[in-house]
Amino acid sequence: REWIGAMVQAREHWSSKMGFILAAAGSAVGLGNIWRFPYVTGENGGGAFLLIYLAIVFTIGLSLLVAELLIGRSTQRDAARAFKESAGGAWPLVGYMGILTAFLILSFYIVIAGWTVAYTVKSLTGTILASGTEEVGAVFTGFISDPIEPVIYTAIFLALTVFVVLGGVASGIERAARYLIPILFIILLVLAARSVTLDGAGEGLSFFLKPDFSKVGWDTFLAALGQAFFSLSLGMGAMITYGSYMRRDDAIVGSAASVATLDALVAVLAGFVVLPAVFAFGAEPSAGPGLTFITLPSIFAQMPFGAFFSALFFFLLAIAALTSAVALFEVVVSYFSAGDPARRKPVTLWVSLASFVLAIPTSLSMGVWSGYTIGGKPLLDALDFFTNNITMPLGGLLIAIFAGWVLRRQVVQELGASGTLVGAWQFVIRFVAPVAIAVILIAGLI
Ligand code: PFF
Repeated sequence: REWIGAMVQAREHWSSKMGFILAAAGSAVGLGNIWRFPYVTGENGGGAFLLIYLAIVFTIGLSLLVAELLIGRSTQRDAARAFKESAGGAWPLVGYMGILTAFLILSFYIVIAGWTVAYTVKSLTGTILASGTEEVGAVFTGFISDPIEPVIYTAIFLALTVFVVLGGVASGIERAARYLIPILFIILLVLAARSVTLDGAGEGLSFFLKPDFSKVGWDTFLAALGQAFFSLSLGMGAMITYGSYMRRDDAIVGSAASVATLDALVAVLAGFVVLPAVFAFGAEPSAGPGLTFITLPSIFAQMPFGAFFSALFFFLLAIAALTSAVALFEVVVSYFSAGDPARRKPVTLWVSLASFVLAIPTSLSMGVWSGYTIGGKPLLDALDFFTNNITMPLGGLLIAIFAGWVLRRQVVQELGASGTLVGAWQFVIRFVAPVAIAVILIAGLI
């Protein structure tokens, strides 16, 4: 008893409510918002997708975010032990799946993040800024298929992540977010101002803001739900872990709403950066994942001070990716260090070594090892598919069921919100979220 009491005492906590909000926003805001959101919006017809996305973020997404934070805060335990502590049985398996998911995402996330670091440097040296999309595409393919260079950038990015995680919860993760999130907002505003004032930006703005429901289908909802999950870092215990560093009396609902708002705001601002520029220069909004690495550099090449704006943009992506990679890392580190601060350092080093070992073949799968496929996909795409389409939604589904049907009433009351609000949350988490997630899970597999 006393020993457990001492362990709970020794657990690190966020230094303030604002500190938590920034750290959690750091986890949420990432490649998902700035790289993925604009191209998914472009592929799904623009304005109508934006509306559906926002509706999902503030209903299902926010409810699940509250659920994860509640599970973490009430147990003061990592993603797996939180389930053991509050229900036992087979439930810790949900946590183990989450920890595995976080590790697998980490291993390809640092590869793509490494590309953003490389592109920051290469913007300044000008090597990526050719004028035609085809040329820029060839530069991009040439770079990611190189066996050595991207691996080095992955290692650089990983080293930055490790540096932050080694600092601990308040003086590492929270402190990094305190500096980086404001910088990120400033850069986003500068870039958005540049983009919306380009000649011909209007067409991009109306594509982004004017909903055209004639193009909405089932797959629009599926894409929006998947995007919301990934963007809010849900379904893999990241928010359980961050919630476990809240104090027992820290408020959840208001903070969760702030995190969801900041996350949505960054996605919308990223839309204002990318889409007007794409239209102003006559590029295709539906270019897919290549939109930021291929289409944008060719646009920057045609802009005055393009090298500067390009470097700023990729630096922005790198910062956003850093605070997210830190969160993925922390899920794994928190579990293996089992609440013992003395183990943070060795565990962090082991986890970084393991993720680097997996990141190497992941990077090579874009080039020399592209012939080795899993389910017809190179390793990077296979990891992305497996986590985004299977383990993340499955985790989210089980966490919703857990929070809605298993969590003790007393714990739910600790939410400390008004009866109506708790009632609404319970309705979403018990019925709406499980049904909606089950649908994406199944549809995604077919
Ligand atoms: N939310 C991050 C993004 O939008 O890029 C991705 C992510 C980070 C997912 C951390 C999960 C996580 F634990």
